[in-house]
Amino acid sequence: MGKAQTEQEPVTNEQKELVQTSWQKVVPIADRAAMLFYDRLFEIDRSTQPLFRGSDMPEQRKKLMQMIGVAVSGLDRVDATLAAVAELGKRHGAYGVTDEHYDSVRAALLWTLEKGLGEQFTPEVKEAWATVYALLANTMKGVVAAV
Ligand code: HEM
Repeated sequence: MGKAQTEQEPVTNEQKELVQTSWQKVVPIADRAAMLFYDRLFEIDRSTQPLFRGSDMPEQRKKLMQMIGVAVSGLDRVDATLAAVAELGKRHGAYGVTDEHYDSVRAALLWTLEKGLGEQFTPEVKEAWATVYALLANTMKGVVAAV
């Protein structure tokens, strides 16, 4: 069996709670947050923009926020969630998404959460989101196996 290329930190119960609680504060401003997110993503990594050339962006914003919501609430049932996330990752390969794009999305997501949550985006909350994002991205990239 191949060893995982990236060491995946486990998500602690405390981190699950921090992510779930902070996400609840983003939900009421979801569409605005998603707009901020895509603007930021296209600003920091122009190579992501052509991937969305044919996309219905209002629809895409909805899908992204829904998917994050599903992943966040699914943190309690990680096995079932990760199988769906792995499938999502396979589709992203077909969209032309690269490993570097995942890094750009990570940066844009953390930036958006900081804007949306303000001083509630504490170092602990940031660390919790970074760990959860790594789990999602590594699963999507096929680096960690979805059980
Ligand atoms: C944790 C990370 C990510 C999540 C949760 C996520 C979520 C989603 C979801 C739910 C869709 C809807 C279509 C489907 O289910 O296949 C989608 C489509 C898409 N995503 Fe992602 N995504 C992530 C990372 C990325 C990255 C890194 C990129 C590259 C910039 C990207 C680019 C796209 C594109 C181009 C589409 C297709 C848009 C369309 O159908 O018009 N995504 N994403």
